[in-house]
Amino acid sequence: MADNNNNTTNESQESSSTPNPIPASFDAKQIREILRLMEAQAINDPGMTKLEREEAEEKKAEHKFWSTQPVPKSADVIEKDGPLHPPLPADQIPQEPYELPSGMKWCILDVETDEHVDELHNLLLENYVEDADSMFRFSYSAEFIRWALMPPGFSKEWHVGVRREDTDELIAFISGIPVDVMVRDKTIRMAEINFLCLHKSLRTQRLTPLMIKEVTRRVHLVGIFQAIYTVGKLLPKPVATCRYFHRTLNPRKLMDTGFTQKLEGPQLAKVMSLMRLPSTTSIPGLRLMRKSDVGQVRKMLNRYLKTRTDVLPVFRTDEEIEHWFMPREGVIWTYVVEDPEHVGRLTDFFSFYSLPSSVLKAPSKSKGKSVKRPQGVPAKKQSTTVNAAYLFYYSVKTDHGIKLSDDEKAECGGQKKEKALVKEKENSLIKDRLTSLMSDALIVASTQKFDVFNCLDMMDNSMFTTDLKFGPGDGYLRYYLFNYMARPVDSTKVGFVML
Ligand SMILES: CC(C)(COP(=O)(O)OP(=O)(O)OC[C@H]1O[C@@H](n2cnc3c(N)ncnc32)[C@H](O)[C@@H]1OP(=O)(O)O)[C@@H](O)C(=O)NCCC(=O)NCCS
Repeated sequence: MADNNNNTTNESQESSSTPNPIPASFDAKQIREILRLMEAQAINDPGMTKLEREEAEEKKAEHKFWSTQPVPKSADVIEKDGPLHPPLPADQIPQEPYELPSGMKWCILDVETDEHVDELHNLLLENYVEDADSMFRFSYSAEFIRWALMPPGFSKEWHVGVRREDTDELIAFISGIPVDVMVRDKTIRMAEINFLCLHKSLRTQRLTPLMIKEVTRRVHLVGIFQAIYTVGKLLPKPVATCRYFHRTLNPRKLMDTGFTQKLEGPQLAKVMSLMRLPSTTSIPGLRLMRKSDVGQVRKMLNRYLKTRTDVLPVFRTDEEIEHWFMPREGVIWTYVVEDPEHVGRLTDFFSFYSLPSSVLKAPSKSKGKSVKRPQGVPAKKQSTTVNAAYLFYYSVKTDHGIKLSDDEKAECGGQKKEKALVKEKENSLIKDRLTSLMSDALIVASTQKFDVFNCLDMMDNSMFTTDLKFGPGDGYLRYYLFNYMARPVDSTKVGFVML
């Protein structure tokens, strides 16, 4: 589950003017009201960041559903990783589906069939994640949905739909796929839960808890008791919070659609020039991934993620790598670097996927200056889609076998400082290589006609975002674990990408 977000920020639009007349003497009811007003004032404080405001609101939230589930409470301080409850005995797992409100029925979506994948595609197209201003909505293609939901070992039973009983219309969906997740030193078989979506007409009727309980039941039935999921909003209680970053590839298109602020004249020219990329990539040996690369990509990726991150998927088989990384037109691009001096030996790779957003409405005038169209000039057709590439996984060499010189050692004057210097040198080499690799990723994405390249501040991404002119967005993505307490993980230690 991702969070659709754009580059614009709303923070300046909120104000905090709550009049708060305090009478000379007051009763308990009045005190409660004053405290409530003061709290509200604190939440609207323009000095608070969006994250702080959300956290302040979360502290007051009741969570009728989540408070009954095996997840940490917002106020919990977690000091040790581990499950909240042990595996449930079979007789404690309901054998029958949960009861739905009358007029609705459960169904399984078989996304291998065109009919079902089209139904799901349409449900998401009309009802899935939007940005805060409802200007954009994620638009997953049918091929993308198949890629996301049919990895090796997937189960149709975990592609859970709800239909109207009278018309058979698909009105809700939630999915799970199996995944091995490593949280620090423990690897756990989990369900990766995604694509939770309710038809707009069914919102706020508490159907979500039923959807979550039903997919959980089905996951429990096969002996899996943990899950990983991401949500834009704050729930109890994220293990990590990542921020979106965006690299403009097509400034004009992003301005026309309201994704970024509209500029004209010299300012526009400046941005166009700033964001211009070379027409060809720079790394010798860069080429599209082939089937014969699968084994090496698996080794490189597992090694990179284990070395650099604390929450990561473990790719156990070549079959999984083939599924997730072999290029698929319009869905996933993977480029490997073949060492020019050793034919067939790979040194690095990167991958990104295509997730367009539908443009729901034209940008409001307040987001940019509107320019009057001269008479006789036809109106420009409004773009209907922002073509966004999202960074998926990559790997670079992380162990350079750095040895300090005697002079450097003497200057350090102790093992602790020596270790820190080795780490600094290592990070500097990783940063240089990753920046070159990502620069080429941007060039490839640009030649493939993407308008924007997005990533989170996870893995080593913060090493290249500034140099490569990514800007922070106003969207965050929170990572959650179900039935697993884990000490907080910094965004740079998140190595798990969710689609
Ligand atoms: C997300 C969505 C299914 C929630 O539906 P809703 O009608 O707002 O919520 P419901 O009344 O059915 O259920 C409310 C409960 O579900 C929880 N909930 C809402 N969205 C959730 C999410 N994305 N993940 C987990 N729980 C969620 C709420 O916190 C609440 O539980 P609580 O009282 O314990 O806090 C619906 O808004 C939707 O389809 N949105 C568009 C797609 C989308 O954003 N999907 C989620 C991607 S992460």
